[in-house]
This record gives sequence, structure tokens and C-alpha cells, in this order.
Amino acid sequence: MNLAVETIGLNFNLTEEHLAVKEAARDFAQNELLPNVIERDNAQKFDPKLLKRMGELGFMGMMVGEEYGGGGMDTISYVLAMEEISKVDASASVIVSVNNSLVCYGLENYGNEDQKQRYLRQLATGEMIGAFCLSEPEAGSDATSQQTTAEDMGDYYLLNGTKNWITNGGISSVCMVIAQTHPDLKHKGINCLIVEKGTDGFVVGKKEDKMGIRASDTHSLMFSDVKVPKENRIGVDGFGFKFAMSTLNGGRIGIAAQALGVAAGAFELSLKYAQVRKAFGKTIFEHQAIQFKLAEMATKIEAARLLVYKAARLKDENKDYVEAAAMAKLFASDVAMWATTEAVQIHGGYGFVKEYHVERLMRDAKITQIYEGTSEIQKLVIARELLKY
Ligand code: CAA
Repeated sequence: MNLAVETIGLNFNLTEEHLAVKEAARDFAQNELLPNVIERDNAQKFDPKLLKRMGELGFMGMMVGEEYGGGGMDTISYVLAMEEISKVDASASVIVSVNNSLVCYGLENYGNEDQKQRYLRQLATGEMIGAFCLSEPEAGSDATSQQTTAEDMGDYYLLNGTKNWITNGGISSVCMVIAQTHPDLKHKGINCLIVEKGTDGFVVGKKEDKMGIRASDTHSLMFSDVKVPKENRIGVDGFGFKFAMSTLNGGRIGIAAQALGVAAGAFELSLKYAQVRKAFGKTIFEHQAIQFKLAEMATKIEAARLLVYKAARLKDENKDYVEAAAMAKLFASDVAMWATTEAVQIHGGYGFVKEYHVERLMRDAKITQIYEGTSEIQKLVIARELLKY
């Protein structure tokens, strides 16, 4: 691997601007997201007022250029914000992540000027929410097997098919839909179309009743003879699969940061709890068994943070970040699952009830090992990159 940290001289020094972004995200998470996070999880509904606030505070288009209404920030700023928001509410952070990393990034980097003018500004400011529609009932990990079709009808595409587990599926106004146009060309015949909600034949299907990130909005979407103008295709004919893969590479940094935040949130709660909860005449922190757990949590979380920062920094320096992003997601999501389970154990019976938050974080952690490519897919991506060197 020629991308090991010592050979690329990466420097993680955070600037004042970075620290200000981190603090702003922490303030928002602790003061505005925390108060009703349990209620939102129970109700399986995200508060539209909070969605609006995330737009106002600049969290919906952090890396989009200022000329398109975005924050013009780097990826390090984005992962700092993702970590702080995810410490408290991973349902909020997945909305942020999909809008930033997949929809805005995809449009800004691969869309044409007309598409950017029509959609990017409103997406970057949070006036519109976007969804990224790749997964299907029969195509999750095996993303090349798209069954949704976009038949070329001359000046428009006729879109037919079903997309599953779409984050922001209900609340989005704009959907980036991946569909097969030339089945004989396999993945080289796939396109990505920008499809607006409200287009005839576009139906929002059932809302998923999920284990974790329950307040986030996850739906199936159905397309039945939906006419999509040709000018809504991203890139040249057949670019859709490359578009999806390239966009997901960056998306994985966002989800890695989410996993890091979930783990760090569970750790912060556990450290506090251990210093006040008493057992056998002293705080549980004074028992070595708990110290061992907290020390190991802190160590693995820091290792995950380094991988996340490394991937973000590589992206900011326009270096190859495919392998680093997959490593960060693989490791951080495993740390999140493990650390949140330890957090519940440290909290004992209190950890098993909602009031103490760690049971929710444990449920939320699981999805980070699944979406934007399962852990097994990350290993495939890493293994392929290994052969390049
Ligand atoms: N970056 C860029 N290009 C890539 C790539 C990557 N990471 N991985 C594959 N490609 C390219 C290949 O170079 C190849 O292009 P060429 O034909 O031009 O050489 C093309 O894609 C096909 O590659 P493969 O033949 O290797 O395809 P495959 O079917 O064997 O494997 C895969 C591809 C990596 C497994 C891919 O299908 C994959 O990443 N699957 C996971 C899908 C995924 O992450 N879904 C997430 C859904 S979105 C989501 O979760 C959002 C949310 O809600 C939060």
C-alpha cells in the first residue's frame, strides 16, 4: 500500500475554522437535537423544524461551493460535524450525510451547469432534500444488477421499477435514480436520472419500520412509466454506474464519520456514568473491569477517528481515497457496534432502557455496517485496491 500514513505525510492539524465548525455542530446537537431525540426515535419521525434548522445552520451543503449556496468547506469540516451530530442523533446525521455526500456531491461534481442551477442551490441550503436511489429489492450489494429500467424514448426516458430502503425517500423533492438503459451493456448501460417528486407515475411506497435510525425517513419508491426529460441525465449515456460508485466512495467517509460519532457518543455517556454510579462502595470507574472497557473504547475510537480523518484529508488533497474511505467505514462501523454494546454493558440495567440513550446508539450502530456497502463490500473494495500497488 503506498497510501500508508507515514508515506503521504498527512497532517491532521485542525484550524480555527475546523474547530468552530465542530463547536457549532456540537452546540446544535446538544442543545437542539438531544432534548427530543428519544421521542423522535419512538415516533419514527424527524421534526421538520429541525430539518429546517440544519439547512439554516449550513449542515445540508457543507462542501458545496459558495457560488451554489453551499458552505465551501472541506471534508475534514464535514466529518467533524458528522461526528458531533451522530454522537446525539444518527437519524439526523444520515439525512445530512445523504444530502451532502451523495446528492450534492454527485450533482456538483458530475452534473452540468443547468442541473446545478436547477437543483444544487436549493439542496445545499436545505430548501430541498435529496435522495440517492440505487438499492433495489434484488440489488443491494450486487449493485450492477439493476432491474429498474430507463428506456430511451428520444427526448425522454421512460422509468419503470422499484427502489428499496431509500433514505429521505418520503421527505425528498429530488431523487437521483440509477436505472438500466442498455441491458446488453450491463453496468456500462446504466444511467443516473434526476427525478422530481410529483412527476406522474412516481409513487412513494411504504415507510420502513427499522431497528435503528428510526427517526430517519426510509421508504421504497415506485416508478411506473415515469417520463424523465433527457436533460435530467447525469453525464454521458451509460455513466450511471461509475457515477454511483464514485459518489459512494465519498459517501463512505460520511458514514464512517457517523459510525465514529455513534461510538464516541456512547463512550462519552459511559465515561460520565462510570464516575457517578456506585457499586461495592466506590464509583464503578474505580473498578478495573470498567477502566479496561473505557480504555479500550477510547483507544479504538481514536484509531477510527484517525482513519476517518485520513480518508477526509486524502479527498481534500485530491489524492486517491477509495481504499482509505472503505477502511475507515469498515473499521469505524465495527468499532461503533462493539463500543455501543460495551456502553450498554457498563450501564447495566439502565443501559437497556431508553432514557440512558445507549440502547438507541447500539441499535443505530448496526446500520453503519450495512448501508453504503456492507462490511463485506468494504473488504472487497479494499482488496481490489491492494492489487493496484
Ligand atoms: N469506485 C469507482 N469505480 C468503481 C468502484 C469504486 N469503488 N468499484 C467498482 N467500480 C467500477 C469498476 O472500475 C468497473 O468499471 P469498468 O467496467 O469501467 O472497469 C465497474 O465499476 C464495475 O465494477 P466491477 O466489475 O468490479 O463490479 P462488481 O459487480 O464486481 O462489484 C461492487 C462492484 C464494488 C460490489 C459494487 O456493486 C458495490 O459497491 N456495491 C455496494 C453498493 C452500495 O454501496 N450500495 C449502497 C446503497 S446507497 C445507500 O446506502 C445510501 C443510504 O441510504 C445511506
